[in-house]
Amino acid sequence: MEEHLTVGRVAELAGVSVRTLHHYDEIGLVRPSARTAAGYRTYSADDVGRLREVLAYRRLGFALRDIADLVDDPAADAVAHLRRLRGLLVERRDRAASMVTAIDRELEARAMGIRTTPEEQLKAFGAQLYEAIGAAYPATRRTEPRIAAKVWEALGDARTVLNVGAGTGSYEPPDREVTAVEPSAVMWAQRPAGAARCVAAAAENLPFADRSFDAAMAFSTVHHWRDPIAGLREMRRVARRVVVFTHDASDTGWRHRFWLTRDYLPEVAGLVADRPPVDRLARAIGARLEPVLIPWDCADGFLEAYWRRPQAYLEEPVRRAVSVWTRVGPEAERRAVAGLRDDLASGRWSERNRDLLDLDAAELGLRLLVA
Ligand SMILES: C[S@@+](CC[C@H](N)C(=O)[O-])C[C@H]1O[C@@H](n2cnc3c(N)ncnc32)[C@H](O)[C@@H]1O
Repeated sequence: MEEHLTVGRVAELAGVSVRTLHHYDEIGLVRPSARTAAGYRTYSADDVGRLREVLAYRRLGFALRDIADLVDDPAADAVAHLRRLRGLLVERRDRAASMVTAIDRELEARAMGIRTTPEEQLKAFGAQLYEAIGAAYPATRRTEPRIAAKVWEALGDARTVLNVGAGTGSYEPPDREVTAVEPSAVMWAQRPAGAARCVAAAAENLPFADRSFDAAMAFSTVHHWRDPIAGLREMRRVARRVVVFTHDASDTGWRHRFWLTRDYLPEVAGLVADRPPVDRLARAIGARLEPVLIPWDCADGFLEAYWRRPQAYLEEPVRRAVSVWTRVGPEAERRAVAGLRDDLASGRWSERNRDLLDLDAAELGLRLLVA
């Protein structure tokens, strides 16, 4: 006979208060659906299974209203939920392990009197970075229609599309059946009402069967993945076509191509140093590479977007919506902004970048990978 548990017993086993369970009941998140012979409400095995999913997503930082969508997803059964949770938890565990290694390294360095750089200190952050900076994202990050058109064209006739590292969903095609994947609870919570169904997972461990989608896309996210090659292979596994928008950090000219990184933020070199070069990413999934020019009035405020509008980088909200500024650390940021402000005031910036002022679009190393 199936065992039914009272609210007190469930609270004790799960390590949460009875009040929390009553609250989940009131908001319809986990309802004790069974009754004892005396008419008391109790938790069935299915209710307990659902509660476990809710508590795991809660521990991963997801808001209660988002958890309701996650656990009510009609496309996932109990096993699928367990696989998703497992993938997310493994990702967190691996990230935590690399943070422990980074901290150990810093402790050793300090013991020898060596100070680590801000880049070294932040290197192991990854997805957790978006828990810290994600709230500033929507201020300037939105769809750039000319670049979106290129991505959507590359998706070909795909009807079902997986968007990996989807964030707030800026590049999700409106005319296809989209499933989003996003590991950060902060980014998840900022997805607009009516956005595509979103699954909490990481690229390196996609909780879908082989060839589940016509196409998989990833926009401006691969450089944040703990293991980009593993993530791309996962995309290849679950979809027949793969489209990725990223930048070519392998090119020795990349940093020099853009005046911001060349003249004001050389620290960016340290951030990309141990990343696989773009041609290796392309080779891993048999993709071709296409350059993407950035229009002078680019609507999406990514790092290179304001190449012809340098004043924008003096604005705090513009910088806060781009992870590089946090990753280089406050000292480098202050120095870069002060240097740029001075050069704009003295006319030195315009003098140095005269050749850019007449361009409508610039080649700054952004690439589309299509496989
Ligand atoms: C710069 S945002 C881009 C968001 C969105 N694609 C866009 O273009 O607006 C990078 C996103 O990658 C996500 N991310 C970080 N690590 C990830 C991983 N291992 N797998 C999938 N997404 C990841 C972050 O949480 C964040 O939402």
